[in-house]
Amino acid sequence: MSAHLTATAAIVLAAGQGTRMRSRVPKVLHPLAGRSMIDHVLDALADAGIARPVVVTGHGGDAVEAAVGARAATARQEAQLGTADAVRVGLGAVSSDVRTVLITMGDAPLQPSALFRAILREREIGGPAIVLVSAHLPDATGYGRIVRDADRGAASIVEEAHADELTRALNEVNVGTYAFDVAWLREALARVAPSPSGEEYLTDLVAMAVADGRAVRIVEADDAGDTIGINDRLALAMAEERMRRRIADEHMRNGVTIVDPTTTRIDAGVEIGQDARIEPWTILEGATVIAQDALIGPNAHVRDSRIGPRTRVWASVVEASTVAEDVEIGPFAHLRPGSDIGPRCRIGNFAEIKKTRLGAGTQQHHFSYLGDAEIGADVNIGAGSVTANFDGTTKHRTLIGDRASIGVDTMMVAPLRIGEGATTGAGSVVTRDVAPGKKVVGVPARPIELRRSSKPPAGAGSPAPVEAPVPSGADRNS
Ligand code: UD1
Ligand code: CA
Repeated sequence: MSAHLTATAAIVLAAGQGTRMRSRVPKVLHPLAGRSMIDHVLDALADAGIARPVVVTGHGGDAVEAAVGARAATARQEAQLGTADAVRVGLGAVSSDVRTVLITMGDAPLQPSALFRAILREREIGGPAIVLVSAHLPDATGYGRIVRDADRGAASIVEEAHADELTRALNEVNVGTYAFDVAWLREALARVAPSPSGEEYLTDLVAMAVADGRAVRIVEADDAGDTIGINDRLALAMAEERMRRRIADEHMRNGVTIVDPTTTRIDAGVEIGQDARIEPWTILEGATVIAQDALIGPNAHVRDSRIGPRTRVWASVVEASTVAEDVEIGPFAHLRPGSDIGPRCRIGNFAEIKKTRLGAGTQQHHFSYLGDAEIGADVNIGAGSVTANFDGTTKHRTLIGDRASIGVDTMMVAPLRIGEGATTGAGSVVTRDVAPGKKVVGVPARPIELRRSSKPPAGAGSPAPVEAPVPSGADRNS
């Protein structure tokens, strides 16, 4: 096993401009199911046991190298002279003890690791100079065609630009994935001549190997759709659809219900627990983890978040937040980054939460905003309540203790601390801290005693700023 691994390397070609994408972004950095094309290729190579491939970079090289990071070595092809030249550059970074090199294209992101394993296995049997992958595509436009000899063996690969009508009619195409005998490859690359287009084609090596009397083997891909190269945005959308379906299928096999896979989009890398149920029109993105028995959707959009067991997210947006178990969110709630929702909370219509912690059992029904706040357990946030957290320059924090009751339409002017069990009256503007168990009302809010022991003395000076106590219950809502 280890002998095989040390003798095998991989080169990923990713230096081309990708003109047909008509993009300012290097082609291999375009995302598919939330990960770049090049990441998908590197994932599959890693899965096939190839530790640290060499990525050949060129066009947009700085960006591609930054994206690849430590996942692969990189070699810079200064001028994009063709795929043969790219391989020459890549080989410069492959150590001399390597016997077999797998070469693939950075723009073929759907290839499964099984395909890579299959050609490496084939290389082990009898030591062919080249093992190449072919696929039968209903529409072969844009691909090199595989030309076979009378015995069905490989004769050559003809690029579309140089193919006559008969060759163009062939629908067995070159996928662009190969396993080469490294010693022969190094020597043969020195002999490649530029094509009429001026590019040096890696595909010329097939006819050269045949002329050298060396074996060339063809491995036909099981599923041609997995082998497509992405040259334009139409192919990108096709690949996206295919990748999404593959991801959904895998979750379903693992025990997740996806009610309507065609309207559900789940990024690669999202984790979903058993018996979770994903309702239609739902998008799960990035580093999202959905716990078991969660109910997500319809119309949920969850990004980079953790959703706890049995929690429901209905027609809401959750970004970079953590939600505990048995929570109900939505419809039409928005959890912005940094929200941390405790167990059994209820977050209702048009509730917005940002960088805020909610303790267990806290309720925020109806339109309201909590930002930069620390809310205790079993707190009730009345409809229309707002943490005024921004004074025009700085954000300030609001702290609300356990079992506090925030009346409808309360403005909480931060920095502010509302004590445990405290109450604010409907429409109050709270500018000063409220002691535990106290009730404040009015604009600006002042403490009131719910039961007064005596009437103010008649005709005593200026009118007392005492507001009529609001009948119990009117400043709550549920
Ligand atoms: C290539 C193959 C074609 C095959 C197809 C499969 C050649 C000559 N043709 O054609 O037979 O059917 O892929 O998708 O190999 N690249 C470099 N440096 C260069 C040129 C290209 O690194 O100088 C990289 C590109 O970034 C890309 C890959 O090689 O990832 C293939 O290049 P591309 O121009 O897309 O080749 P195709 O025309 O698709
Ligand atoms: Ca291509």
